[in-house]
Amino acid sequence: MRRSGPLSGNVQVPGAKNSVLKLMAATLLAEGEFVLTNVPAIADVETMSELLGALGVKSKWLGPHEISLTNSGNISTEAPFENVDKIRASINVLGPLLTHYGQALINWPGGDDFGGRPIDLHISGLEKMGATIEQNLLNINAYAKELHGAEIELSFASVGATENILTAAIYAKGTTVIDNAAREPEIGDLCNMLVAMGAQIEGIGTSRLVIHGSKKGSLRGVRHAVINDRVQAATYIAAVAIAGGDVQVRGARPEHMEMVINKYTQMGVSIYPQRDGLRVTAPERLSAIDFATLPYPGIATDYKPLLVAMNSISSGVGIVTENLFPGRFRYIEELCKLGADIRIDGHHAVIKGVDHLIGTAVTAPDIRAGAALVVAGLAAHGETVISEIHHIDRGYDDLVGRLSGLGADVTRV
Ligand code: EPU
Repeated sequence: MRRSGPLSGNVQVPGAKNSVLKLMAATLLAEGEFVLTNVPAIADVETMSELLGALGVKSKWLGPHEISLTNSGNISTEAPFENVDKIRASINVLGPLLTHYGQALINWPGGDDFGGRPIDLHISGLEKMGATIEQNLLNINAYAKELHGAEIELSFASVGATENILTAAIYAKGTTVIDNAAREPEIGDLCNMLVAMGAQIEGIGTSRLVIHGSKKGSLRGVRHAVINDRVQAATYIAAVAIAGGDVQVRGARPEHMEMVINKYTQMGVSIYPQRDGLRVTAPERLSAIDFATLPYPGIATDYKPLLVAMNSISSGVGIVTENLFPGRFRYIEELCKLGADIRIDGHHAVIKGVDHLIGTAVTAPDIRAGAALVVAGLAAHGETVISEIHHIDRGYDDLVGRLSGLGADVTRV
């Protein structure tokens, strides 16, 4: 890719990775056919299809963004290592398998490497509901004849723990309360699909979810549209901010992106809500900002590499604090290869804006960091070559095609 811009035209935001994977795992809760629409064409959807296929849920594409999943009731409760190891969301089969089929044998999940990613909150929540969970270095073996409702207060608003406890509560006897539940819009999407399937959930979108257990097997298959991806939307806004231009980001949902839109605005980006998304125009030069990552509605850790890339060519100095994954700074070395001036101190990064970046060869360390390097490359003088782009393919539906549709000089080689 070469220095690009100004960008123009419009780009459609695809469905959210961190929603669709959980919706797919929830098909283990009911026999019947599910149809998911607005499904992003990403590698992780294929991995989740393979995992569910190995467990007995058959999936097939009905169109470019529509997938059908059929749970015929003939389900294995042992998740094969090779599928589980590829994605973090594989852990989302734990709650549904346990509550519906009474057992789950699953390896420790893979996914992006941000240092330690424990699942102690998933496990203690499920144990409180009556599960027995044995763990060793290789796998987790969970079983329960019948789960029961419980009052669970999460010490941290973990996305994965909220989702596993929520799905496990669907067939638990009695009522389960999750306090300090994560409030990410993708969890709201999962709750909405579960309710359409017949589940009884109160407090959707809040930090207190109340789930009244249903009779085992009483839920049904549904048709459901995946919500749009706020991180991909933020990526196209960052691309305009960095390369300049005037672009319509169609399908961006401002109500899911309030804090990050505030930060973009502070940096000088103009963002105008429109009927179907956002219009974005870039300033002559961005201004550096400070920010800290937090669970929703705070600034998501997934936005951070984009904002750091923007800070790296802004006027001034920005200080960024990572509060979720202390090890999530591996891309900074790559940004520095492009000429960024960034110093890391514990879980803080201090970014001194430079006049411009200079293209060179860099490596994508994970999904969001890979996308941020692509966005940074739009502003770099000369050619930027990014390797290990299979990470980007895990979560981005045709990033290269969408950016080149806006006039960026990006090709896949
Ligand atoms: N945590 C614990 N114990 C647990 C669970 C989490 O200590 O039992 C800690 C984690 O170590 C971390 C923090 O809590 O420090 C947040 O973890 P969380 O459980 O909220 O995250 P996750 O479910 O593992 C999801 C997304 C990530 C996203 C985070 C935070 C999926 C598949 N992954 O991960 O997305 O960064 O929430 O919003 O939904 C990505 O899409 O690129 C990505 C990494």
